[in-house]
Amino acid sequence: MKNFNAIVRLCLVLFLLPLFSLAQTRSVKIDIDKKVDALLKKMTLEEKVGQMNQYNGFWEITGPVPNEGNAKLKYDHLKKGLVGSVLNVKGVENVRKLQEIVVKESRLGIPLLFGFDVIHGHKTLFPIPLAESASWDLKAIERSARVSAIEASAVGINWTFAPMVDISRDARWGRVMEGAGEDPYLGSKVGVARIKGFQGDDLSKNNTIAATAKHLAGYGFAEAGRDYNTVDIGTSTLYNVVLPPFQAAVENDVKTVMNSFNVLNGIPATANKFLQRDILKSKWNFKGFVVSDWGSGYEMIDHGFAENLEQVAEQSANAGSDMDMESYAYITHLKSLVEKGKVSMSVIDDAVKRILKVKFELGLFDDPYRYCSPEREKTLLYHPEHLASALDMAKKSIVLLKNERQLLPLSKGQKKIAVIGALANENNSPLGSWRVGSDDSSAVSVLDGLKKYTSDYRYAKGADVVLGPVNFINELIINKTDKSGFNEAVELARNSEVVIMVLGEHGFQTGEGRSRSELDLPGVQKQLLEEVYKVNKNIVLVLMNGRPLILNWADEHIPAILETWQLGMQSGHAIAEVLFGDYNPGGKLTMTFPRNLGQLPIYYNYFNTGRPGPKPEVFWSHYSDAVNQPLYPFGYGLSYTNFNYSNLKVDATNPSQIKVNISVKNIGERSGEEVVQLYIRDKFSSTVRPVKELKGFQKLNINPGEIKNLQFILTDKELGFYNGEGQFLVEKGEFEVMVGTNSQDLLKTVFVTK
Ligand code: NOJ
Repeated sequence: MKNFNAIVRLCLVLFLLPLFSLAQTRSVKIDIDKKVDALLKKMTLEEKVGQMNQYNGFWEITGPVPNEGNAKLKYDHLKKGLVGSVLNVKGVENVRKLQEIVVKESRLGIPLLFGFDVIHGHKTLFPIPLAESASWDLKAIERSARVSAIEASAVGINWTFAPMVDISRDARWGRVMEGAGEDPYLGSKVGVARIKGFQGDDLSKNNTIAATAKHLAGYGFAEAGRDYNTVDIGTSTLYNVVLPPFQAAVENDVKTVMNSFNVLNGIPATANKFLQRDILKSKWNFKGFVVSDWGSGYEMIDHGFAENLEQVAEQSANAGSDMDMESYAYITHLKSLVEKGKVSMSVIDDAVKRILKVKFELGLFDDPYRYCSPEREKTLLYHPEHLASALDMAKKSIVLLKNERQLLPLSKGQKKIAVIGALANENNSPLGSWRVGSDDSSAVSVLDGLKKYTSDYRYAKGADVVLGPVNFINELIINKTDKSGFNEAVELARNSEVVIMVLGEHGFQTGEGRSRSELDLPGVQKQLLEEVYKVNKNIVLVLMNGRPLILNWADEHIPAILETWQLGMQSGHAIAEVLFGDYNPGGKLTMTFPRNLGQLPIYYNYFNTGRPGPKPEVFWSHYSDAVNQPLYPFGYGLSYTNFNYSNLKVDATNPSQIKVNISVKNIGERSGEEVVQLYIRDKFSSTVRPVKELKGFQKLNINPGEIKNLQFILTDKELGFYNGEGQFLVEKGEFEVMVGTNSQDLLKTVFVTK
C-alpha cells in the first residue's frame, strides 16, 4: 500500500511537472510582453527609431573617445539612446564599456544587442557549415553551434548572424560553404539543429545567444552563381525549396531573420512586403525581428528601386525590415517619415516591440553585463572539451569519394610516404574565410597531423596555390604559372611508396564575394597531380575545398580520393585519423559534384521534363557533348566497409502513418557509420514534383556482419507539397519510395494512398 501511494504521488508529479513548466513559460512570455509595452510607452519617437538602428563597431574602445567624423556621430548616438545594436564588437572589456555608455548615459538605459558573425565556431573553429552538413549528424552539428555560443557569449556577444539556411544549386556561388547544401529537407534539419545549439533551452542563460536565419530569401539562387546577382525563381521553387528552412527555423523559435541583398520578382528583399510581412510575420506568425543585411537598404538605390535614402527608409520599414544594419536610413529619415505620415506609428511600434522582446528574453534588462564575465572569457576559449568536439565534427565531415584497391586506410607501418601540395603545410587555409573571431593560422596542418602516426614521410610543396597575401577583403592571386617546385615533388614521388597529395582551394577562395567561374583545381595544381601520377600511381588525393569541384581526371586516374573541405582547427588531426584508419569515414555529399560547368545548376531533385529520354535521336533533354549525370551525386560517400540494403517494405494501411522498413547489413570487415536515406516521388500531382525528394534519413553505426532493421514513418508533412500559390496540398495517389546509400543507388517500391 505504501508503495502504491508512492507510485501515485510520483505519477502525479510527473504529470504535473510539464504542465507547471508550460504555465511558467507562458507566464514569463506574458510578463515580457507587459514589460515591453510598459517600456514602449516611455519612449520618444526618436528613441524608438534608435532601437531600429544598428551600427558597425567604430572605435578602439580602450583608446580615446572619438571627437570627430563618423565615429563621433555614432558615439553621440550611443549616448542619446539612438542605437539598438552594434555588430563586430567583441571582448568582455569592449562590450562592457559600450554597454555602460547606453545603460548609464542614455535616458532610458536600454541595453544593446551585440551581433557578430559566429559562423562555424568563434575561437575554436569547426568545419565550414557545408562540411558539417556532410556529416548528416544533427547532434554533432547542434553541439558545434552550442560550443560556438559558449565561446561567443564568453567574449560578450549575444547574437549571431547564423545559421545561413539558403539552399543553393550552383557551386560557383562562393557562399555555398556557409550553408547545408542543395536540399530543403536536410537544410531545414541542419538549420534547426544549429538554432537549438546557439539558443539552447533558455535564452536568458549567459551561455546562449540569439540566432539568425538568413538570408530571406532566394540569395542562394544568384544567377550563374555570381554573388549579389539577380534572382529569378518561380513560385514552386520558392515555396518548396527556398522557404522551408526558414519556416522550420521560425517553428523552432529562431529569434531573428536577416533579409538579403537580392531582388525577388523585381522587389529587393529588404523592401519585400510579401516575404517579410505576408509570409514571415503573418503566415508563419514570426514573433522575433528582421534585421537587414549590411547596407542592403542603401543598395536599393543601385537596384533602381529607391531614389534616395529617405525612400529606402520608407520602403524598408513599411515592408517589415525592423532593424537597419549600417544603411543609416532609419536613423536619418524614419522620424520625419512618421511625422509626414509616410510610415505609421504602428509600424514603428511593432518593430521596436519585437527588438525589445529579444532583449528581454536574453535577460539584458535584468543584467546588461550578463555576457561580460572576465572569468568566462579567460577559461572558456579553446576549452579542451571544445577542441574535442571540433575534432569529432571534423572527422564526421570527411567524405570518402573513391577507394580503389583498398589503398585506404594506410597501414600504420607504411614506409616512404611522400606528402605533396602547399595545402598540406597550411595552418590558415583550413579555417576557411568566414572566421572573424578566430586566431589566424590556428589550424593543425596535415603535416602536423601525420606526426602522430609516422615519421617516415617527406614533404615537397610542388606549387603554391596562391601568390601574395591572403585576407578577407582582397581578391587572391592564384598561382597559374609558377611550376618551379614540380621537379622536387616528382622526384620525391618517384622514390616513395605512397603519395598523399593535398590539393584544392585556399580557404579564402570561398565565402562572400568569392564566386568562381571555373571549378577545377585552382592554378597549376591539376598539372602537378598529372606530373606526379606519371611516376607514382599510388596516390591518395586529399581535397580541401569549400564547394563542389570538377574532378573528372582525378576520378578517372587517382585510386583514392578524400574530400576534407575546410575542416577548421582540428583539420590535420582529423585527416590523419582517417588516412590511417583510426576513424572510418561516413560523410555524404550534400551538394552534387558536376562533371562540367555546363551542367550547372545541377541538383538531384530535378523535374523529369516531358522528354526525359534517353532516345536514339537528339530530341530529348540532354547535352550532345556530355552526360546528364553528375560525377558524384547528392548523398554520396563511401566507407572503409560496405553496406547491403534489403527487404524494402511499405505498409500503407494507415495513410497518415506510412511505414517504410529496410534492413541494412555491414558486409565488410570493420564497423562503420552509414547514412540511410529515404526518398519519395509523387508520381502524378496537380503541380509537377521532382523525380526524387529526400524525406528521411537515419545515421547509424553498424558492426561487421550485423544487420540493422530500420523504420521510417511518412506523414502528410512528408507527402505533401506547395502549389504555386503557397498552399500546402496532400494529394492521394501513387508514390515511389526509395531507400539507399545515396540519391542514385536505391531500392525502390511503390505505394498508393487513398
Ligand atoms: C553581409 C553578409 O551577407 C551577412 O551574412 C553578414 O551577416 C553581414 N554582412 C554582417 O557581417
